Amino acid sequence: MTLKKSISAFLFVCGAGGAVFLASSPNLSGSESAREAESVRFFEQASSVFQHPRCLNCHPGGDRPTQGMDLHEHTMNVQRGLQNHGAAALQCSACHGVENNLSSGVPGAPKWALAPKTMAWQGLSKGDLCRKLKGDFPNGRMAGGMSPEEFIRHNGEDALVGWAWKPGKGREPAPLTQKKFGGLVAKWIRSGAACPP
Ligand code: HEC
Ligand code: HEC
Repeated sequence: MTLKKSISAFLFVCGAGGAVFLASSPNLSGSESAREAESVRFFEQASSVFQHPRCLNCHPGGDRPTQGMDLHEHTMNVQRGLQNHGAAALQCSACHGVENNLSSGVPGAPKWALAPKTMAWQGLSKGDLCRKLKGDFPNGRMAGGMSPEEFIRHNGEDALVGWAWKPGKGREPAPLTQKKFGGLVAKWIRSGAACPP
């Protein structure tokens, strides 16, 4: 082989290798980023529920539940209390039962209480809420120490969460249905639980 020929053979091999590299790598990262974008979309759809006032009113950062679509502080100076069930003298259960009270209009559901401060969602951007809920997933447990399957069940089946879709007269229910919401949460987690920026 002449020198010229061997150089062009070398270039040909490199060129072909480069072409394979170029053809395959954008494809690979392309499908990965498509999956990630899809996962983010699942979270964004689910966040219409996570960030709805029916959920946020019990997931405040402060020491009082909030009320209404505008998240105003709970009337009657209702406080978080040491165990998130209200002050010793005025527990949530003094007024809130296990179901909505049709005559007084006081909402109710099993285990009515304020979510602990570690589960505060009010004021978080979608991305920050997403990262908070995700916890250590996929390397460890999700928010609140739940396994991914427990987290899916909690959102899709828990009765206290379910109250948000039957909140009683005069209150706007959360969007979708609890079942659809649980489905979105499952899809978000199974696609890798990617978060918006
Ligand atoms: C003294 C009675 C009383 C106590 C105690 C009380 N609540 Fe309420 N709560 C009410 C009433 C009445 C309403 C309905 C107000 C309305 O809709 O006009 C209400 C509404 C709410 C709402 C609003 C739901 C929404 O989305 O608008 C939340 C959340 C709430 N309470 C949480 C709690 C929590 C958590 C506790 C305990 C830490 C608690 N409440 C203690 C009487 C009470
Ligand atoms: C009446 C108050 C109340 C309402 C309304 C409420 N939550 Fe909660 N939430 C709680 C409490 C209390 C806990 C803590 C439960 C426990 O530790 O067992 C909690 C915990 C959670 C957790 C676990 C969070 C974590 O960081 O581990 C999720 C997820 C959750 N709620 C979802 C929702 C969704 C979604 C909605 C609305 C559709 C909602 N909640 C509405 C009181 C509420």
